[in-house]
Amino acid sequence: MDPDRHLVLVGLMGVGKSTVAAAVAKRLRRPLVDTDREVERRTGRSVREIFAEDGEAAFREMEADVVRDALASERPAVIAAAGGVVLSEASRALLRRPGARVVWLCATPGLLHQRVQRSGHRPLLDHDPVGTLQRMYDERGALYKEVADLIVSVDNRTVADIAEAVLR
Ligand code: S3P
Repeated sequence: MDPDRHLVLVGLMGVGKSTVAAAVAKRLRRPLVDTDREVERRTGRSVREIFAEDGEAAFREMEADVVRDALASERPAVIAAAGGVVLSEASRALLRRPGARVVWLCATPGLLHQRVQRSGHRPLLDHDPVGTLQRMYDERGALYKEVADLIVSVDNRTVADIAEAVLR
């Protein structure tokens, strides 16, 4: 693993970015930045509250600020970038720069749907989760690909195995 660059995990909701990022950060002894958690820390509100009170566009701005600040930090971190981070053109441009190594964790929409059942911070999946995930899968694939240095498929793999693939 390149010691001077941030390691960023991108991919759709439910793919396991946060869990894998935590495992990788522990192994590398690096700080962990989870963009959803960092937005919540900065605002003192949950992702769901921000969506409900300020709307998605405001959340996307906060998210882009968190990504920019995390990538600007001198100490190399492991960054779990929430599923919608790649919607921002500015964030994609930062992710393509040499200071970040970006891994796209990908899975089939069916697996993602099984995994997102018990989560509260995903208001976009409140209605028609299967259709929404499928649509996001179709719409965002090209954006993840645009920023990714490496693509890791997570289907039928354990967290330890995925973390190992990311580290390799
Ligand atoms: C979103 C992903 C979520 C969260 C919000 C919107 C998205 O994060 O930021 O519900 O648009 O893909 P995770 O990818 O960590 O679930």
